[in-house]
Amino acid sequence: MRIYKAKDYHDLSVKAAQIIAAQIVLKPDCVLGLATGSSPVGAYEKLAEWHKAGNLDFSEVTTVNLDEYRGIPRENEQSYDYFMRKHLFEKVNIDRSRTFLPDGMAPDGGQECLRYDEVVRRTGGIDLQLLGMGHNGHIGFNEPGSSFAKGTHCVDLTESTIRANRRFFSSEEEVPRQAFTMGIGTIMEAGKILLIVSGKEKAGMLNRALFGPVTPEVPASILQFHRDATVLADEEALSCCEPR
Ligand code: F6R
Repeated sequence: MRIYKAKDYHDLSVKAAQIIAAQIVLKPDCVLGLATGSSPVGAYEKLAEWHKAGNLDFSEVTTVNLDEYRGIPRENEQSYDYFMRKHLFEKVNIDRSRTFLPDGMAPDGGQECLRYDEVVRRTGGIDLQLLGMGHNGHIGFNEPGSSFAKGTHCVDLTESTIRANRRFFSSEEEVPRQAFTMGIGTIMEAGKILLIVSGKEKAGMLNRALFGPVTPEVPASILQFHRDATVLADEEALSCCEPR
């Protein structure tokens, strides 16, 4: 596992975008695993900027997102589908038929999980998976205690995740209680992983994830076992790290 320190969120975003852009340059028809939330917004902005300047071509890229809220239609501003369109897909020349997210409105949750696993499998495998980390150490929506072996599944969000995501909704009641998420088993199959973490609120948990025991109680700790994982975190996020 390689750990890189960025000065602040801006620096982190530029470096994350550089790693993603390098992947696209090296393999124009690559498969990117993408995340939503606050962490990747700055990186997506940079990628869009470089595309606009004529320096980055998404025409052959395929994307598979980590997760989607259950019960929220794509058109809704709170959906992750909407997020991806707003922050990246509508700003670059990606072929929308090659962008995938779980369908939050699928009537049969079990079927939707199987379908999404098949979507990921058919891409031929994720070359680079971008991850953020929740305050409780979750990756995707794999909450503490999740099995390390799972494929896509439907999860009940924890109170701490509901509280953390409250900022994107007008009230806590509106935050969905369930989501579809790629499982840790699928995430760990990606060729490369890039975890980006910013801010001092996550510093204690990042220390546990990077240097503590590998345990389902800290889902991100599994990344210690990935063969090609890069962690990019800013000074604040790394402020509690005590390598042992
Ligand atoms: C989002 C996702 C989540 C977030 C995590 C951090 O697709 O999978 O695991 O990456 O909750 O969220 P932010 O970046 O908003 O702190």
